[in-house]
Amino acid sequence: MKPFHTPVLLHETIKSLNVNPGERYVDATVGGGGHSLAILEKQGIILAIDCDPEALKAAKRRLSSACPSSWQLASGNFAHLQEMAQQRHFTPVAGVLFDLGVSSHQLEATGRGFSFNQDGPLDMRMDPSLSVTAADLVNGLTQKELIKLFTKYGQESWAAQISRLLVQLRSRLPIKTTRQLAAMVSRIKGWQGGIHPATQVFQALRMAVNDELNNLRLGLAGAVDILKPGGRLVVISFHSGEDRIVKNFFRRQAVNGQVAQLTKKPVRPTPSEVARNPRSRSAKLRSIEKK
Ligand SMILES: C[S@@+](CC[C@H](N)C(=O)[O-])C[C@H]1O[C@@H](n2cnc3c(N)ncnc32)[C@H](O)[C@@H]1O
Repeated sequence: MKPFHTPVLLHETIKSLNVNPGERYVDATVGGGGHSLAILEKQGIILAIDCDPEALKAAKRRLSSACPSSWQLASGNFAHLQEMAQQRHFTPVAGVLFDLGVSSHQLEATGRGFSFNQDGPLDMRMDPSLSVTAADLVNGLTQKELIKLFTKYGQESWAAQISRLLVQLRSRLPIKTTRQLAAMVSRIKGWQGGIHPATQVFQALRMAVNDELNNLRLGLAGAVDILKPGGRLVVISFHSGEDRIVKNFFRRQAVNGQVAQLTKKPVRPTPSEVARNPRSRSAKLRSIEKK
């Protein structure tokens, strides 16, 4: 059976969190439970959050087969991490981990619409109770709004041409599937092999549908608030927009004297990790310690 997700920077994450037996840790993005499992192996106690019911189901399977207790799952958005931990009397904590983005399972699952490699409905909601899908954005935003979205979240230099063609095509036939969108972007940009031309457009839509940058801002603030003195916050990001938010947030907290920065420069995967798991190639890990 294919693994749900291979955790990136696993060794580096556990080292950065400085896991101590009997201490509390929040895994804000449990996914398939790979990082949580490593925290449990060090005898940490875990509150594991995810907004995707499929991830929670997979994490439950994985964690319960490894350890019957010392962990609990919480379904929800990490933007509300502080309230979620407080409601469960799970504060203060010794560490919080964010491993951002999507899991391999989400990317590869047919029917979720995250990937240009799988044909399916253009959905992209990590949390299926969200009301707006990628198809809603593609068919409902104005040309100007589409250009802004593809530029801001995807750094797509063909944003104007792609948006113009999208608006033309959708007036005849709504864009409803990943294959339609991927083919349309490929038609504009061409493809000589290498990275798929629709990569940035798909990423931009995913970030917008799931409001990823705003959730990150809220989640980081909540995380620092529930850390005990000496507690660690570790964030793994995969996108320059996310990394900028993390970097600036950490810098502000350090200037205010709330935290010490543990990583002046982000920790990156080794070449051998990238060879084993190409999805790790853009990962950047940053960490702070609360004073
Ligand atoms: C890269 S995966 C985490 C993988 C995990 N560390 C592992 O070892 O399997 C990211 C997970 O975060 C979840 N996620 C992303 N944004 C979220 C948010 N705002 N609130 C809660 N979960 C979120 C996704 O559903 C996904 O399961």
